[in-house]
Amino acid sequence: MSTSTTEPFVELWTEAQLAAKIAELDVAYHNLGQSLASDAYYDRLKELLAKRNASHPLLSVVGSSSSDNGDKVEHQQPMLSLDKCTEFSDFSAWYRGVFAQATDRANSAKLDDEVKQWAQTPRGALVALPKIDGLACSLRYDDGGTLVRAATRGDGRFGEDVTVNAGQIPTIAKALLGESQIGRQLEVRGEVYLPLSRFAQVAGEYANPRNLAAGTLKSKDSSAIPLDWLAFYAYDLLGSGLPTETAKLTKLREMGFAVPNWRPVAAAQATQVFNLFAADRATDDFEADGIVVRMDDCTLAQRLGSTSHHPRSAIAWKFAVAADTSILQAIHWSVARTGAITPVALVAPVNLSGATVTRATLHNVSNLRRLALRSGDKIEIVRRGGVIPHVERVIEAADGQPIGIPENCPGCSKIAVVVSRDDGKGRVIEVLQCSDPANCLAARQRSLLHFCQTLDLEGFGDKVVEILLDQGLVDTAADLFALTRDDLLPLPRFGELLVKNLIGQIDRARRVELPAFLVALGIPALGKQTAQLLATRGNLAQVRSLTKSDISSLHSLGYKTAEAIVTGLADNAELIDALLQHIEVIAPQQVAPQHGYLTGQIVVFTGTLEAMGRREAQKLVVQLGGVAGDSLTSETTLLVVGGDELVAALPSAKLKKARKLLADGNPIHIESAANFFARIASEPA
Ligand code: IVH
Repeated sequence: MSTSTTEPFVELWTEAQLAAKIAELDVAYHNLGQSLASDAYYDRLKELLAKRNASHPLLSVVGSSSSDNGDKVEHQQPMLSLDKCTEFSDFSAWYRGVFAQATDRANSAKLDDEVKQWAQTPRGALVALPKIDGLACSLRYDDGGTLVRAATRGDGRFGEDVTVNAGQIPTIAKALLGESQIGRQLEVRGEVYLPLSRFAQVAGEYANPRNLAAGTLKSKDSSAIPLDWLAFYAYDLLGSGLPTETAKLTKLREMGFAVPNWRPVAAAQATQVFNLFAADRATDDFEADGIVVRMDDCTLAQRLGSTSHHPRSAIAWKFAVAADTSILQAIHWSVARTGAITPVALVAPVNLSGATVTRATLHNVSNLRRLALRSGDKIEIVRRGGVIPHVERVIEAADGQPIGIPENCPGCSKIAVVVSRDDGKGRVIEVLQCSDPANCLAARQRSLLHFCQTLDLEGFGDKVVEILLDQGLVDTAADLFALTRDDLLPLPRFGELLVKNLIGQIDRARRVELPAFLVALGIPALGKQTAQLLATRGNLAQVRSLTKSDISSLHSLGYKTAEAIVTGLADNAELIDALLQHIEVIAPQQVAPQHGYLTGQIVVFTGTLEAMGRREAQKLVVQLGGVAGDSLTSETTLLVVGGDELVAALPSAKLKKARKLLADGNPIHIESAANFFARIASEPA
């Protein structure tokens, strides 16, 4: 089918022909940002399709009114739970049971050798993935590859429709790309979760990432955090007809989904794999509460069937929850950059999974009230999935009155106010907030520290920043740039060498790249990735003049984020102007290439990449200082073409567009994926 014509005689088309054309236009529009036909033509196609089949799934695509957040939807196949175990012996017993059923044998302990042999065969093969602690989500795609329905697990039979919200999660594809449109209706299942790096930005205000993710995904009109903070890991593909779990996982990756790393498991040595996953938690950006082990062979899994609760072919092997008791010594109130004041329990040192813990979060005022803590209480400290330890419960209460909530901000002594907010799970919680964060010493210290850390100002740590503020040498980040040697030398313990280094660091930061500058401002919704995207819109002045709708039209940025950014930039106008008196902010195009191999490049991929999945490749681009775009625009500087598309008779829409841009005199490069990856690999780190 041609990609850009608007054929006549559409009135004569069959339902399938109409659906195929609409799907093609949808994919071009959602994935490539291209409008291949007029609105009138597109509407006409839909009208005709509705005449042929009013309930065709394509007529209820993402964002349309027929799909409403919160509606009940029935799953085509029930979303079951998993059987659980916590020890190798239970895991082993499960595997033996599978063997017995698969081979029609009685489950007896005498089978040991046979089980071991069977484990070496493809039928006995196992595959393991991390068990992500988020919420299960089903994504249904029609046979044109368009996302038609996203739903939560609910009770397993009926879930909640979250199509509209899920459509805003960057790692959820609204339309499947190219090859993956295999003319079937597919269902992708996986876990929606809140990355720990995101959770850290609001830590203290919410109990755990899972609840916050659930509340955000199900939110009706406004949510505590932007929807595009959520992420999705795919772990199952229904309707593909593929024979093994590993084939399905590979396919999901090819389709552009993020898939957690999986490992094959030798049944007898499963503990080793379990330990590898446990060790991964130190660096994973998600919370895992165990591993999921599945029989790789889908035909066998089908035969084994399921109970009403779980499939027999899979088991969740949970990580031990690190917990121990300690004695509460005091409560420390920690003031964040935003002026949020979080209670932290200071406890007698206790060892939790190898780390000595002396502090445990109490999250918020509501939680503190619930626990009614007294100093001297014997308490239980729990550390789940590698996240910050928290106080689980009081085991033995000490005498006396529960510790109260301070009336004044510990950072500036101004009134502290208790405010109510949604915890992301539809529950209202109370948090403590400084009433004047703009003038709060502690809040200012945190934001100044954030500024220094973002600009890599070595030496400007907690203590130095505190002294500078205390001594009145610095009020805002802009004042850092007016510091002289003579200002610093008289300070206690500020020797010649230290002062020389500090001044050197400041001088180095007088030229700052735009993304780093934006992040350094400390606007809550403005992280690294978002700053990179904003920087594709031009220089600082241009970024400052962007409207909410300009920003929300940028790839993956939701309206709430856009709003927070516009407000944040306006609130910081004075600071930005003051900073500009001292520093030069360099827009990416002006950055000299030696800063990062792909600095200043806006890279878009098309076609199948042999070397790695598309998302991985995009991550790599960002790591190398570039910006990874999803759609091709006149700002794109490099199109990387996978497969043999460069020589193919029918180039992809992206490639065609790039060639046209080039012909029109745009400075875009087109390069084969093989070349691109070889070039990157040969570049000294
Ligand atoms: S496989 C029949 N793989 O765990 C269910 N589940 O306790 C097959 N989960 O509802 C699921 N990470 O939400 C699978 N890598 C993973 C998972 C995973 C998390 C969740 C899933 C499920 C729950 C069951």
